[in-house]
Amino acid sequence: MARVSGLRKTLAERFDDELKFFKGWIDKPKAVGSIVPTSSITARRMASVINLNSGLPVLEVGPGTGVITKAILAHGVKPQNLYAVEYSSDFVQHLRRLYPGVNIIEGDGFNLDATLGENSDMVFDSVVSGVPLLNFPVARRVAYLESLLDRIPPGRPVVQLTYGPLSPIPPGKGDYTVEHFHFVIRNIPPTQLWIYRRGSRH
Ligand SMILES: C[S@@+](CC[C@H](N)C(=O)[O-])C[C@H]1O[C@@H](n2cnc3c(N)ncnc32)[C@H](O)[C@@H]1O
Repeated sequence: MARVSGLRKTLAERFDDELKFFKGWIDKPKAVGSIVPTSSITARRMASVINLNSGLPVLEVGPGTGVITKAILAHGVKPQNLYAVEYSSDFVQHLRRLYPGVNIIEGDGFNLDATLGENSDMVFDSVVSGVPLLNFPVARRVAYLESLLDRIPPGRPVVQLTYGPLSPIPPGKGDYTVEHFHFVIRNIPPTQLWIYRRGSRH
């Protein structure tokens, strides 16, 4: 019985997440990008790039309902070491309730100097990004990536999800390498994961 009520709670929470997501999508379809939250498989894959031994904090951009946030915490990142930047205030309120110890920052991931404020010089281990880049011009995507790479050590990854077949940030437009990481079919819609770095891989 306890198991059944636990299951019910999980389904109810999931429904609540999906409803929030759908509402966000109706309000701002361009910013949300997808009509359902990221799958937990995609989220786990993205979190797997984080190196816990670096001792550095982690930056997440576009956490939405918090599926990837949850996977990052499950990977072993301490809540106080996670900085999550989200544009939509509805999602921000939801995330603050769900993950009280995480640094949930309301603001624009395309303008991190202003959004991170006193933490704008912080060095992160890696960046996990769910921002729907295909909805923005290529020049803005490249500028976004460069500003993320400026905040992590050489060789460390920015991992990005996208629903298109190609890297949303084309190679050859700046100081970074492009690497296909995974194709996750169990995601609606199926998702491609890409990794971007500067300098040699580690
Ligand atoms: C595809 S959804 C991410 C889905 C998320 N992984 C989930 O499962 O809920 C994109 C998210 O990026 C956020 N977003 C879009 N543009 C942003 C920006 N410039 N800065 C920060 N967040 C942004 C949207 O509000 C939305 O929550």
